[in-house]
Amino acid sequence: MTPPLLDLPGCPGLKRWTRIKGYFDAAEALAMQELVAGLPQGARVAELGTFQGRSAVAIACALPPGGVLFCVDHFVNTVLAPGQAKPPLEQVVKENLDALAANLDAFGVRSRVTVLKARTRDAAGRFAPESLDLVFVDAGHQYEEVKADLADWYPKVRPGGWLVCDDCTPEWPGVVQAVQETRLPGDFIAPTLWAHRKPQKA
Ligand SMILES: C[S@@+](CC[C@H](N)C(=O)[O-])C[C@H]1O[C@@H](n2cnc3c(N)ncnc32)[C@H](O)[C@@H]1O
Repeated sequence: MTPPLLDLPGCPGLKRWTRIKGYFDAAEALAMQELVAGLPQGARVAELGTFQGRSAVAIACALPPGGVLFCVDHFVNTVLAPGQAKPPLEQVVKENLDALAANLDAFGVRSRVTVLKARTRDAAGRFAPESLDLVFVDAGHQYEEVKADLADWYPKVRPGGWLVCDDCTPEWPGVVQAVQETRLPGDFIAPTLWAHRKPQKA
């Protein structure tokens, strides 16, 4: 049986994890950890959209031995309090990168994570076709953005590997439309988390 969330080695617990700022709930984290823990040794996972590392920590904690997580984000995302003016871009990027590093350190998973500060479209060129065991799509949520990410990154998934897309719910119609247009069969592994397993080659 898969160990429960963040009970995996190197993870100091759920309570601490919930304090990481971000957009990934415990049900999503559990489902994702179960999938990731079942990947082969040395698995290569790419996450599109990391923010301050909430999903990244959950994924990195569950990686099998020798596994690596590539975190792709331009890090310009910010959560503003009502009425708060948006800080300068460089400040936002620095805050996000600093918070991500601190969160990865706190959970002892920094050595398993490679941070790529880039647009998803630009980072795709750094990966060979069929070189990834799992791609997790959680960057831009508008239709054109998701459509582009799915088109750019699905070819990077190896046969037998996984494509997982977050926020595949009516609240994000662009995500739903882009996923539906792939015509790939998939299942919901959590209420918001759609997953497709790429068929093995015949
Ligand atoms: C929904 S948040 C990711 C949440 C994260 N997975 C978590 O667990 O909290 C989306 C992230 O994608 C990033 N993003 C949006 N569009 C992007 C793009 N085209 N290239 C790179 N990063 C992008 C934003 O900066 C933001 O941090």
